[in-house]
This record gives sequence, C-alpha cells and structure tokens, in this order.
Amino acid sequence: MQTVTTVAELRAAIKIWRQQGERIAFVPTMGNLHAGHLRLVTVAKQHAERVVVSIFVNPSQFGVGEDFASYPRTEAQDQAQLHSVGADLLFLPGVADIYAADAKTTVNVHGLSELYCGAFRPGHFSGVATVVCKLFNCVQADVAVFGQKDFQQLAVIKTMVRDLHIPIDIIGVATVREASGLAMSSRNGYLSAAETALAAHLYQTLSSTREAILAGNRAYPALEQQATHSLQTLGFKVDYFTVCRSVDLAAAQVDDIDLVILTAARLGKTRLIDNLEITLPPPAQSLSNATKEATDAPQAHLKS
Ligand code: PAF
Repeated sequence: MQTVTTVAELRAAIKIWRQQGERIAFVPTMGNLHAGHLRLVTVAKQHAERVVVSIFVNPSQFGVGEDFASYPRTEAQDQAQLHSVGADLLFLPGVADIYAADAKTTVNVHGLSELYCGAFRPGHFSGVATVVCKLFNCVQADVAVFGQKDFQQLAVIKTMVRDLHIPIDIIGVATVREASGLAMSSRNGYLSAAETALAAHLYQTLSSTREAILAGNRAYPALEQQATHSLQTLGFKVDYFTVCRSVDLAAAQVDDIDLVILTAARLGKTRLIDNLEITLPPPAQSLSNATKEATDAPQAHLKS
C-alpha cells in the first residue's frame, strides 16, 4: 500500500490506474480505524480494482468545545490495518492540503443538515459536505463507501451528490456491532468500562422500539417518549430518539413503510449515535390480508 500526503501525489497515482482502465473506489475516514472501517474497505474492493482510503480529521465538522484536538490519531496502526485488508493507497493530507488559508467556498445541504444531529452540532454537516466534496474532487473515484451508522451523514452526502451532479455512486454499508450490539465507533474508546456496559442499551432500546413497531404500534411520538425516558433512567442524556421516514428523514406518519429510528445520546463525555431501519408491509398488503380474512371466514362457515 502506498501512502501519499499531497493532492498532486494522489492524482499522479490515480492517473496510472486510470490509464490501465481500472475502476477506483474511495473510503473517506477520520482514522482510528476499527472493524467497521475495515468492512468498508472490503466492500469497496468488491466494486473496483483499486481502493483509496483517506484519513483526515476534518476541523470544519467539529464545533466549539468538541473533541477535534483530542480525537484519536493512530496513523501507524491504521496504516497496518489498511495494508492487511488490501487497500491500495492511503491519502493522508494535512489541513493546509485540503483548506486554503483564504478558502471561500463551503457546501451546504439545506434542511437535512439542520435536523437531528445538525440541531445539536450546528455547522457539522456543512463541514462534512464540504470536506467530502473536496475529497471526491481530489480522488475522482467511481464509487464511494460509507457506513450506515452515520445515517444522516449518508443522507446528506447522497443529496449533495445528486444536487451537484457529482459523478460517483454512493454505497452504504450496514453497521458493524460489538457482541453487545453497541455500534462500532472511534468514539467508543472514550467510554469507561461501566459506560461501555451501559452503552449497549442504546441498541437494545432501538431494537425494542423496532419490535413494537413491527408488532403494529404506530404511536410514534409515544414510542419516542418511552424510549427517551428509559434511556434517561439508565443515565443517558438523550439528544433525540426519533422515528423517521428513511427517504427524507421527515417525522414518520402512520402509513409510511420505510422507516428509520435515529438516536443520539450522551454517556458522560461520549456522544453515541445509532439507528435501525424498518420496512413495514405496504398498507395495500395489510388491506388485502384483511379482505382475505373477511372472505375466508364465510367459506369456513359454509364448509362446516
Ligand atoms: O464519517 C466520517 O468519518 C467523516 O464524517 C467523513 C465522512 C470522513 C468526513 O470527514
């Protein structure tokens, strides 16, 4: 695996692969890699001959008082892990390689960026969209791979790609979890042992809410309140726990079919995010089942 730090070196390496007619997949990261990131690289390898990974702790997506300075930087370990899963190139730029000192351009995906995490981290998704757009322009890959753990981030990036006509396919990969159900995250390293044990309740609460919805409960605001209350009782500070439509992240209505439960909650100084998707049977199907039951009943009666 090659490691490059400048855009010029990156482009030179990619040019050679392009001349050979090879497809390129891209996995942007902020480093401190775990099994979730390595899964993204494995999926990327299924879509292209060459896989480029970036490690860049992006200052513009951290707010005042957030963990930019203390965000774990583990480049040597990350490089070894990327090598072991067969990444071809690591792009490791410095801040000055990505942001000109007098940069004047940002990318904003309005609306989506102000919801949920955006409401608690103002400017975060503008920082994400801006850096991802820059990285896409640097790498010019055919496909980019992101984790579905950051469900809202993925929605912001897909919308940006659509709106700006960026010629790249975006692939979302299922969240990789610990045995306890806790979603893997670089920030899990901030948790104490006791907090790590508690943190699994976030996934358990998502799962029990999903079960309730699958069992037919459509009282979404009440389910959100119950879940929030039970997490608070366990010691979480809940930023939000919300049932939304997966297509646009609007609040779910009773006849929506494709849903996602999104949550963010803090344990001590660690902010955790997670989500679970749900696909409900279409109302027409429930209707036709109801019709079928109604028509089956008299037949049974006639037979007896
Ligand atoms: O998900 C992340 O690690 C970051 O938000 C990303 C997409 C690499 C942008 O900095």
